[in-house]
Amino acid sequence: MVDVTRHDVVIVGGGAAGLRAAIAVSEARPGISIALVSKVYPMRSHTVSAEGGAAAVARSDDTLEMHAYDTVKGSDFLGDQDVIQYFVEEAPKELTRLEHWGCPWSRNDDGTVATRAFGGMTTKRTWFATDKVGFHMLHTLFQTSMKYGDIERYDEHFVTKLLVDGGACRGVAALDMRTGQVKAVLGKAVILATGGGGKVWPFTTNGNIKTGDGMALAYREGIALKDMEFVQYHPTGLPGTGILITEATRGEGGYLLNSEGERFLTTRDYGVGTKAELGPRDMISRAIMQEIAAGRGIKIPGKIGEYAHLDLRHLGEEKIMARIPFVRELSRTYANVDPVHEPIPIRPVLHYMMGGVDTDIDGATEIDGLYAAGETACVSLNGANRLGSNSLTECLVFGARAGAHAVQYIAGSSGGEEGPLLRQAEDEAGRVEALRGQQGGGEKITKLRESMNDIMERGTGVYREQASMAKANTEIAELKGRYEQLSLDDPSKVFNTEIIAALELRNMIDVAESVALAALHRKESRGAHACPDFPTRNDGEYLHHSLVYYGPTGPRFDKKDVTLGVWEPEERKY
Ligand code: FUM
Repeated sequence: MVDVTRHDVVIVGGGAAGLRAAIAVSEARPGISIALVSKVYPMRSHTVSAEGGAAAVARSDDTLEMHAYDTVKGSDFLGDQDVIQYFVEEAPKELTRLEHWGCPWSRNDDGTVATRAFGGMTTKRTWFATDKVGFHMLHTLFQTSMKYGDIERYDEHFVTKLLVDGGACRGVAALDMRTGQVKAVLGKAVILATGGGGKVWPFTTNGNIKTGDGMALAYREGIALKDMEFVQYHPTGLPGTGILITEATRGEGGYLLNSEGERFLTTRDYGVGTKAELGPRDMISRAIMQEIAAGRGIKIPGKIGEYAHLDLRHLGEEKIMARIPFVRELSRTYANVDPVHEPIPIRPVLHYMMGGVDTDIDGATEIDGLYAAGETACVSLNGANRLGSNSLTECLVFGARAGAHAVQYIAGSSGGEEGPLLRQAEDEAGRVEALRGQQGGGEKITKLRESMNDIMERGTGVYREQASMAKANTEIAELKGRYEQLSLDDPSKVFNTEIIAALELRNMIDVAESVALAALHRKESRGAHACPDFPTRNDGEYLHHSLVYYGPTGPRFDKKDVTLGVWEPEERKY
């Protein structure tokens, strides 16, 4: 028999969205029992690596309406306007609440909260704590969560299955990485907050843990993944490693230069107008790729490819050390350049998934009792392109809302029999046990993972050709078959990282499948989905969300309406 623990709410993921949800649940109903299940110790969640800031209206020259409009326009009119309206209203409250919990926001000389410019925003509305914002936010949330004795943590537990019976989700099966045992962690509601899946692609800012786990868990239970074709390339990653050089560099006044030393965003027409380096990420990433394609990239020997320069020298050492000291540290350590004296080599790097588990504005999914928040979810805030610094705030706003709604849900839920859930957990334990050290048909994790990365980069990169997307669909389907022939080498139980890698690979392949299918269906260019075969946006046919459903013989595509509001779609020009 598997070990069983019982709680009221089970939260999967210990980053910003998961911790915020846990606090919201606890505050809504003190004494309620919460399980916080995370495959890493919470402070190692990927939130920690966020750098530049979190957006919310704070200044007298800003309004909620301006923040909403910037977000709608940034989304290329695919964001749901009711969601965006709620988000901008809650954003300042959430960031202020975080300050009260101890987040050390940087200040202006007069003591007010400092804000910086970010891409696609009409004014300075990105709150920051130098350039280690994710670290400070995560630390604040983690230490605050510790005030609540009713949150029981399951660190280093990898969730392999949602336990769903009678149309309701009532727990998870989780592999305890320390012992190798699968446990049933039961609850009356489950909230997924496991982040995105950037590791599906080879060159990414994302840490190794970002393998699309929550998306894949929901997908396999029949919930649609929404808007998966929209993956964001951040314009400034370090070549080779993909380490993020924050957009705050451009917010603070940095320039992009080509091999001729030309500030191409001001001299050539890339659609960003006078915003130049502060245009939205999709447009700036494309501009860099076009500069490289036109022969104005900077070449480096070897496999790393060509890049552009990010020049901060004119900012001066004092400003760099006051506002973006971590950028200097990263550039020196990982690119061997000191941005005080030399430009930083950069190129577009996969950073964020706009798509995710289809939820409504409450974070609720199509399965009763199952919620999702943060990058795992697609609540439809970001549409076809997210504005930088909206996502940390999104984790807070919609983590809190999902938590509050999960509490309401369980008040009216009568639960159900445990038997079917425990049988599912037993089956899952058997499946995991069979995988451990499995000697299959000779396929190796590393090879399959490299193939997946390669397929997805060729098929769903910054630019997507129809032929390459069609090929990606066929090749991912083949890869799924090869996964069944996986051979593992390590039969051990204690911290068996090979089996975790195998389970993560399965999740990534499922996520890849949904991205490839959604991309193939969208025969237009919108936001981050840029198709040379269909270079313009086509609202007549494609002003809809994409839904991809799992199927045992292959994925199924469907559509869903976008919720419009005061802003009618118009040409997206800056
Ligand atoms: O560039 C950055 O600091 C990233 C911010 C974001 O993705 O929101």
